[in-house]
Amino acid sequence: MAGHSTGAFAVDPVLSPRGGPLYLQLKRWIEDAVHAGAVRPGDALPSERDLAVKADVSRVTVRKAVQHLVRDGVLVQRHGSGTFVAPQPARVEQSLSQLTSFTEDMARRGMSVRAVWLDRGLYAPSPEETVTLGLSAGDHVARIARLRLAGDTPLAIERAALSAAVLPDPQAIESSLYAHLERRGNRPVRAIQRIRAAALGEGDARLLDVPVGAASLNIERISYLASGRVIEFTRSIYRGDTYDFVAELRLGEQPQNGSRR
Ligand code: GLP
Repeated sequence: MAGHSTGAFAVDPVLSPRGGPLYLQLKRWIEDAVHAGAVRPGDALPSERDLAVKADVSRVTVRKAVQHLVRDGVLVQRHGSGTFVAPQPARVEQSLSQLTSFTEDMARRGMSVRAVWLDRGLYAPSPEETVTLGLSAGDHVARIARLRLAGDTPLAIERAALSAAVLPDPQAIESSLYAHLERRGNRPVRAIQRIRAAALGEGDARLLDVPVGAASLNIERISYLASGRVIEFTRSIYRGDTYDFVAELRLGEQPQNGSRR
């Protein structure tokens, strides 16, 4: 389809002289078309000259908008053949009410999982790990850090800390931490999860194959055994462009009539 205007690119963008810098307006117009699915990954962007005519702006303005979109990973440039809508990863919908593992979440969607091990070993715990995991003086902590992929798409970086008493040999984990813990009767049954928005720094962005500064969801999970003991303290960084966290909300109990707070 290269060279043809498809979908939203077939209509002309309307830029307003009072709507801020023209290159930003044009950038937003293209971005909106991509995110709304009006143009598909692999669709060719009209040529710089055609876009300049369509939007009634200079080619310099078009070039600037395109440069920013390439930097943000929305468009890709292929030498000699033009500029295209970049592949958009499929979004993953994740329930917030089930205590599941990454492997189970992906299996339910029929996706194969893969991990690139970034670290695994026994360490002297940090003060935060000591407090969170309830360790005693002289105890060690098992740390495992993985880049987690579904198919070839990197989705998350997960850094978990567990007491060395429950995970004495981190090398023994095959692919799923929870499957490993389950085999030893240590699968968590409850967890508290805290989710925070963040922008990706250089190292994490490179691992997740997205531009520096892209949005991420930082998730901290502290999970517990049935006995109430903390078993896992994990910090995960999920790509913001791939995850929708979904929670079911129910109407809470209404205060009784006349009850005081
Ligand atoms: C999720 C959680 C992590 C947990 C992991 C276990 O991704 N955010 O806290 O450690 O699942 O996944 P797996 O059993 O696939 O290693």
